[in-house]
Amino acid sequence: MAIGSMISSPPLSKLATSKAHGEDSPYFAGWKAYDENPYHPVNNPSGVIQMGLAENQVSFDLLEEYMEQHKEELLSWGSSSSFRETALFQDYHEIRGGRAKFDADHLVLTAGATAANELLTFILANPGDSLLVPTPYYPGFDRDLRWRTRVNIIPIHCDSSNGFQVTRKALEEAYKEAEKRKSRVKGVLLTNPSNPLGTVIPRMVLEDILDFVTKKNIHLISDEIYSGSIFAPKEFVSVAEILEETRYKNSERVHIVYSLSKDLGLPGFRVGAIYSYNPSVVITATRMSSFSLVSSQTQRMLASMLSNKEFTEKYIRTNRERLRKRHEKIVQGLREAGIECLKGNAGLFVWMNLRPLLEERTVEGELKLWDFIVNEVRLNISPGSSCHCSEVGWFRVCFANMSEKTLEVALKRMKQFVEKKRRE
Ligand SMILES: Cc1ncc(COP(=O)(O)O)c(C=O)c1O
Repeated sequence: MAIGSMISSPPLSKLATSKAHGEDSPYFAGWKAYDENPYHPVNNPSGVIQMGLAENQVSFDLLEEYMEQHKEELLSWGSSSSFRETALFQDYHEIRGGRAKFDADHLVLTAGATAANELLTFILANPGDSLLVPTPYYPGFDRDLRWRTRVNIIPIHCDSSNGFQVTRKALEEAYKEAEKRKSRVKGVLLTNPSNPLGTVIPRMVLEDILDFVTKKNIHLISDEIYSGSIFAPKEFVSVAEILEETRYKNSERVHIVYSLSKDLGLPGFRVGAIYSYNPSVVITATRMSSFSLVSSQTQRMLASMLSNKEFTEKYIRTNRERLRKRHEKIVQGLREAGIECLKGNAGLFVWMNLRPLLEERTVEGELKLWDFIVNEVRLNISPGSSCHCSEVGWFRVCFANMSEKTLEVALKRMKQFVEKKRRE
């Protein structure tokens, strides 16, 4: 017997071993099913197709082409240049069509939006306090906002009657729920455009939310990680634009999160940012960013690439157009299979309605259907319940992390499944 197995290991911290990691959800279980049996068109054509990963690979060729053409410049250490002032700052501005001004002094870089969201939660809330988050939301928030900070998430329940948009009533109800639990509400966290819905928050709703957080004297975090992945650019309004129009009244409660993981398709580079209108938050976040820095090599390389205006403009334009076409293809393909999706205009996924296929309109019924789709149809999609959706039967389906051919295979499988199910 090995010595190690005879000695019981010293315990880990309560926090580290608590259930707040949130990874017990089917969202992550689906990834495992894919990892164990990944689809390959030649080597494993009956494997699981990964449609549970919001990754953007549709414009990777543009990045590769740029890298190839600028190899020497990208790898050289040349003269020192500030990433803050050039690359990310300019790109951020470009992506929003130059409709809002951004000041580099408000910006703090982090290792992705994951770190940015955790850092902001840590700065704004004490353990036991709450953030109100509209449902359905990105399952990773259960880990990012709660685990190390010990902050609670209280859902703002949204439903299909108004396209899952936040209402005043839902905001007030979530606030009351926190009061009932004797937890202090420190802020609202929005994702705009939404993951998993693939829709933007209309201006009026955003104005209502700003009004709500001002009246309650709480913060507003706006995770705008998909703000460059919009098919109809004019439809997206950043909270930054509203603040500019109102001459930054009450802006110190607003903090924006961004990252290059989605729009630029570089999740492995770990480049995120907090843009806060509150100087104390900027100072504290800068101090804390030591825990999640972006390597200087990565900064230098991306600074060089993103400060090339010709490249960024072409990338943003082409990427949007390709995402739009992909989106159209999946919506059309699912419609031919008799499946409807929520009308979307952004993101790397669709929000698909399989309610008519549920044997039982409960979370258990939804998970039973999900289990069949993952293990028998072999498509890894994410059930709405893993996003805390208050209505059963909705599923998130990603479409930008695979080739067009693979998407066609996935749509064919889905169509066959629905036809079979209807015959039963
Ligand atoms: C809404 C949202 N926020 C944050 C993240 C995490 O992004 P990053 O890779 O930059 O940490 C994701 C990733 O899926 C996301 O969808």
